[in-house]
Amino acid sequence: MTFQNSKKISKIFFSIISRVVKKNAEIHEPIFFGNELKYVKKCLDTTFISTVSPFVNRLETEFCKYTGSKYSVALNSGTSALHLSLILSGVKKNEEVLVPTLNYISSANAILVANAFPHFIDVERKTLGVDVEKLRKYLTKNTTKKNNLCFNKKTKKIIRAIIPMHTFGHPTNLKELLILAKDFNLIVIEDAAEGVGSFYKNKHVGTFGEIGVLSFNGNKTITTGGGGMILTKNKKIANLARHISSNSKVIKKWQIGHDKIGYNYRMPGINAAIGCAQLENIEKIIKAKRKLFKLYKNEFNKIKGFKLFEEPKNCRSNYWLQTIILNDNMKFKRDEIIKFCNNMKRKTRPVWQLMHKIKYLTKYQRMNLSNAEDLEKKIINLPSGPQIILK
Ligand SMILES: Cc1ncc(COP(=O)(O)O)c(C=O)c1O
Repeated sequence: MTFQNSKKISKIFFSIISRVVKKNAEIHEPIFFGNELKYVKKCLDTTFISTVSPFVNRLETEFCKYTGSKYSVALNSGTSALHLSLILSGVKKNEEVLVPTLNYISSANAILVANAFPHFIDVERKTLGVDVEKLRKYLTKNTTKKNNLCFNKKTKKIIRAIIPMHTFGHPTNLKELLILAKDFNLIVIEDAAEGVGSFYKNKHVGTFGEIGVLSFNGNKTITTGGGGMILTKNKKIANLARHISSNSKVIKKWQIGHDKIGYNYRMPGINAAIGCAQLENIEKIIKAKRKLFKLYKNEFNKIKGFKLFEEPKNCRSNYWLQTIILNDNMKFKRDEIIKFCNNMKRKTRPVWQLMHKIKYLTKYQRMNLSNAEDLEKKIINLPSGPQIILK
């Protein structure tokens, strides 16, 4: 295809987006139209701005109701929630943790900080999550079972856990994944950082594994400014999460003591206050994001070569990031399209750099990653914030 054609394609792509979003649209902006100011003011008025705050307890209670999780623990980021999850689920030094390579960097970093090793796995096109069938074949060939543990034949290390991720808010294939995890004795830590408000067969993502992780970063579906959460049905894990995320404090009369290594990972009240207000409007926000998907779909359907990614069957996705998958011909135009749209003030961007290609992660174990490598060339994220519809 000639440069002329490239330019034409970029112009067509841009004109589709500009029919849906106005100038200066970001990839994802938060929206505040509820009780945020009122609750933050209450925090300031009562001085309970830090981690000991009624708003932290309230956010946890409300999230248990919304997600159906038995317990929830509010933390200061999704990344710290991932790190705690690895510790709490019993991942030990020098063990391996399976993690999709098409991913945000947090899970690989959390694994390394927990003194374990990431082991990169492939994704499927249907959900953009773990390719369970391919992984089963890989594990069958490359692992052995001893004392009910899964050992990597090559490294002789225990493969202890798997961190499936719900990419751009779309639920991964949880049914097959949970069967595989059971068959290979893998602990499941669901990275549902992008999936707040997404449901797999009417059950909120993050509630299927031993532990689920949510993120409330400023770019997520709802936000606390910065924040995260652990979801679990295990009381012991929830109690320990609360304890070690507060520096393992043991308070006796006036004396503050500490009984084990701890972390300063708890969510401050002022952030939880924003979260409580945001959660009150989550369904309005998701309704807007789903409407935005329909508007894009209507426009992109008219043109060949661009496929707007749609929620998997039996799922209710939050459509966190709207996603175009280019076809085999168009993938060579990805960078030109993105450049053109950004120059024309409509933010678009490629997917994250695949984790196994990041310099400090290249040395870790991996399976064949052909699907992720192909998808990496084809994905374009579009402006996706709820304010596009609601303002
Ligand atoms: C898949 C995924 N995991 C983890 C995180 C980390 O969350 P946080 O930014 O709250 O630390 C993010 C996003 O930021 C994410 O997209």
